[in-house]
Amino acid sequence: MATNLARFGVSLREPGVRAGNVAYVAMPCYAKSGAKGCARFAIKHSPRQTLARPFVNSPFNLTSHPSLHQRIAALATATATATAASFGWTDAKFEAASTAAAILRHLTDPEAGHKLGIRAAAAGLLPSDPRPDPPSLATNLAGLRLANPLGLAAGFDKDAEAMGGLLGLGFGFVECGSICPLPQPGNPAPRVWRLPALGAIINRYGFNSAGGPAAAAKLAAFRAAGPAPRGGLVGVNLGKNKLSPDAASDYADGASRFAALSDFLIINVSSPNTPGLRDLQGRAALTGLVKAAVKARDEATRGWDPAAHGGRCRPPLFVKVAPDVTEPEAADIVAAALSAGADGLVVGNTTISRPLAVAAHAHGAEAGGLSGKPLEALATDRVALFYRLTKGKLPIIGVGGVSDGVGAYAKVRAGASAVEVYTGFAYEGPALVPRLKAELAALLARDGFASVGEAVGVDSAKRKCE
Ligand SMILES: Cc1cc2nc3c(=O)[nH]c(=O)nc-3n(C[C@H](O)[C@H](O)[C@H](O)COP(=O)(O)O)c2cc1C
Repeated sequence: MATNLARFGVSLREPGVRAGNVAYVAMPCYAKSGAKGCARFAIKHSPRQTLARPFVNSPFNLTSHPSLHQRIAALATATATATAASFGWTDAKFEAASTAAAILRHLTDPEAGHKLGIRAAAAGLLPSDPRPDPPSLATNLAGLRLANPLGLAAGFDKDAEAMGGLLGLGFGFVECGSICPLPQPGNPAPRVWRLPALGAIINRYGFNSAGGPAAAAKLAAFRAAGPAPRGGLVGVNLGKNKLSPDAASDYADGASRFAALSDFLIINVSSPNTPGLRDLQGRAALTGLVKAAVKARDEATRGWDPAAHGGRCRPPLFVKVAPDVTEPEAADIVAAALSAGADGLVVGNTTISRPLAVAAHAHGAEAGGLSGKPLEALATDRVALFYRLTKGKLPIIGVGGVSDGVGAYAKVRAGASAVEVYTGFAYEGPALVPRLKAELAALLARDGFASVGEAVGVDSAKRKCE
């Protein structure tokens, strides 16, 4: 590390040394195990080194009675330099972006913060990761090749405004949506609450959507701009308009409109914020609307040439389910999905349940879907349930409460072929992405798995044998 720092015109001393122009910085660090800690480093600028020379008589020179803001600027610069030198520039950029996101979170209400995050991603302000993923993370999802199994869940980029910026972070795939056929405003604000002490969010956005044509135009522009960053995949999550009397026709409209623009499609019948939506998980209703969507997709892609569509084939179709379903309801969903021709499941959406700690929170009684840490165990349990019921016939994207490699690995072991994050990403920011992937790769290696695919469902299989 000393060598690295010297390259940037600074040298390390033992913590506690106070000689010359020395700034003391505290910086976050991650052990190989993934444990987060904090190290204090002394950074000394050396006038002999070219890079340091411009900083003599500048905010870097802490011995010449600097003002408070000069000291803060010097410390911030020194921290960034030390972080960059010890992590490498890519990790430093991700850590800095997470710090900026945390500051933004403190300064904004949840919806304004969300919008700013999308704007930053759409404007290309997020860091991108040029490093290839560890080979053990490469995997297959319903015939799709993923460089890594980590995805961004639906609801973050509802109108497909920032797919390039989000994929550049290093996600293997990003789900945009939910997109409804017609524009609609969603529920009145306030409609999203942070519960930071619990690592949770409650939302009742209610499918605020710019509508199918607007989102399709964004995705068409994204496709026209060239290959997706890092070869990442795009899922389009479809919703229905609140006032639409015909759910099947709304999903068919979406499947048809986005078949040529997406790598995979998701039928969302599990948002708790559109009246009656979850009833569509019933066997008869679900069979009908999955059949309608499959037919619309097949018609839209009949006879098409993958070469004319960036190498994409007909997009597989997933069904996104609620974590609140009982075992008989889950069995009905699996039967309907299989008989109607669905290709996979997303398990699952937010929960309407309120664990005790959430119920006791000031915002715990807000109506809407709960996501994040309090959902994690329930979501993992539902992944295991659906894995057992599908007997591996439908691949599962596991989502709910994941915020680190341990959580993602638990979902994989329970039966998920890929894993998505939303709330964890909202709290941890961009640095979550490379960190989680590194942790997951380390856990796979620790347990002797050469690839993610080998670990899918091992816990469920074990349970069956016992
Ligand atoms: C603010 C917010 C908005 C969401 N909007 C959608 C949505 O439009 N469509 C959807 O399928 N899921 C939506 N979700 C659910 C997430 O995709 C995910 O299934 C859920 O939050 C559980 O994952 P998490 O605990 O990692 O957040 C939303 C979640 C949040 C927190």
